[in-house]
Amino acid sequence: MSEFNPARRQILKGTAVAVGGVVAVSHGQPAQAAAAAPRAVPASPTNVSIRLRVNGTEHQMMIDPRTTLLDALRERLRLTGTKKGCDQGQCGACTVIVDGRRVTSCLTLAVMQEGHDITTIEGLGTPRNLHPMQAAFVKHDGYQCGFCTPGQICSAVAMLDEVRAGIPSHVTADLNAAPQPGEAEFRERMSGNLCRCGAYSNIQDAIAEVAGVRR
Ligand code: FES
Ligand code: FES
Repeated sequence: MSEFNPARRQILKGTAVAVGGVVAVSHGQPAQAAAAAPRAVPASPTNVSIRLRVNGTEHQMMIDPRTTLLDALRERLRLTGTKKGCDQGQCGACTVIVDGRRVTSCLTLAVMQEGHDITTIEGLGTPRNLHPMQAAFVKHDGYQCGFCTPGQICSAVAMLDEVRAGIPSHVTADLNAAPQPGEAEFRERMSGNLCRCGAYSNIQDAIAEVAGVRR
C-alpha cells in the first residue's frame, strides 16, 4: 500500500497545479499576479451626529453614515417591529411611513431622514389603543407568522392616504379622475409587500374594511 503513496502525491501535486492554472486562466491573469494582488479595504468613514424624529420622539445619535434607516431603527433605537426581510428593497417587510409616504427603510440611509417625521408600527397604535388598520388585521386574521405584518400595516395605512390624495396607480383607468378605491387598486398598490404565508386574501379584507368598501 505504502509504495503507492509517492506516486499518489505526485498525482495530487500535478492536479493542484493544473487546477491553479485553470483558475488563473479563467481570471485572465498569471497565477502569481492574482495571488499577489491585495484586496482593497474601504476606509471606515467617521461617524456623524444625527437627529431622528421617530414616532414623535427626537433621538440624537452618533452613527456611521452608511447605516440604513432600517438598521438605525432596529439596532440603535431597538424598534424591532420593523422587520428585515430581504434588505434589498424586494419584500416590503421594512416599510415605515416618512412624512406620510411609504418608504422601504432598507433602501434609505438614516442620515437622509433628518428633519423628517418617521412613523413605525410602534407609533401607529398601542396594544390597548390599536390603529384601525391594526384592529382590522386582527379581526380579519390578516397574518399567520406575522413577519410581514408591520410592513403590511404601515404600507396599507399610507396606501389609503395615496388613494384619497388622488395619486394614480398602474391600474387606474382614468388618469384624469380620482382613483376608485377597491380591490384592484389595493392589490396593485400593495404588490410591493410580500407575504410568504399567503395571507393576501385576509389582508385585502382588512384593508377593504378600513377603506369602507365591499369586496
Ligand atoms: Fe426592505 Fe425587504 S427588507 S424591502
Ligand atoms: Fe407570514 Fe406574511 S404572515 S409572511
